Amino acid sequence: MPIPKAELHLHIEGTLEPELAFTLAERNGVDLSYASPDELREAYSFADLGSFLRLYYALMQVLRTEQDFADLTEAYLARAREQGVRHAEIFFDPQAHTARGVPIDEVIGGISRALDAAPERHGISTGLILCFLRDESVESARATFEAARPHLDRISAIGLDSAEVGHPPSKFAELYELAEAAGLRTVAHAGEEGPPEYVWEALDVLRVERIDHGVRSMEDAQLVARLAEQQIPLTVCPLSNLRLGVVDDLADHPLPRMLAAGLLVTVNSDDPAYFGGYVGDNYTAVRESLGLDDDQVRTLARNSFRAAFLDEPTKLRYIAEVDAHPMRS
Ligand code: ADE
Ligand code: ZN
Repeated sequence: MPIPKAELHLHIEGTLEPELAFTLAERNGVDLSYASPDELREAYSFADLGSFLRLYYALMQVLRTEQDFADLTEAYLARAREQGVRHAEIFFDPQAHTARGVPIDEVIGGISRALDAAPERHGISTGLILCFLRDESVESARATFEAARPHLDRISAIGLDSAEVGHPPSKFAELYELAEAAGLRTVAHAGEEGPPEYVWEALDVLRVERIDHGVRSMEDAQLVARLAEQQIPLTVCPLSNLRLGVVDDLADHPLPRMLAAGLLVTVNSDDPAYFGGYVGDNYTAVRESLGLDDDQVRTLARNSFRAAFLDEPTKLRYIAEVDAHPMRS
């Protein structure tokens, strides 16, 4: 039995397994230009974030209908349950779909249908985080936010993702003000490939409550002190960092130094279909490659609930489940 955990950094489009991509391609009459799921899986080898994003966006063409989004989300939830996930806060990239003519109502409708059934079907509570593509214009982000307005009761937070370098958080200051005024929570990818300055901007200009990735914060001692002092959660994704060349070797990953610095660090999967593992696999990989002990693994699981957008009594209930979990070693 895996330790109970929350997953806070998961792009639903990044859970598209090759087999489901082929099923959806056939259903929607899309030509994938790969002969088989195995051949597609072989293409899942990346030099950096940019080379991953090219395939990630290209494969989204198979996602067309509300049913496709419901099927994608349901497949993730079934996997997540097996990995001990009790709460999931899920990113989606509406602009990547509306740009292809898929209405945002179909996207949110399909994802929500699966999420609404998750507590009863899988014992998983959920949140939905609308991400803006930072390499698209502010005008496009604003139009997306307005299109999403009728669905804001289903959305818990906004986020910022896609190609980081050259697209600093401050570009989206206005969007974060709009979201705050609408009562939404806020997160942003920062310090994955981008410099520590982007993490400062996400904190000081966007006033985000969590940083997604943030591993490059470790290059700036003052920033580490700030993150530790304010207990700003960082949603770290070790297998993603390995597959996208953010670290050369998992054994060199800064996670143990982040824990030692007193950061509120969590472990997550990012785009598990592409990076070789779901969240439980990420826990196993860091335990084995970085030699984390039972206490450290329990801390990571506890942190995942502390960092979640949940009310305090619910967090404490989940943390009690973590504390009661018999570790395997
Ligand atoms: N979109 C999906 N995965 C991402 C990542 N790791 N970084 C930025 N944008 C993403
Ligand atoms: Zn991400």
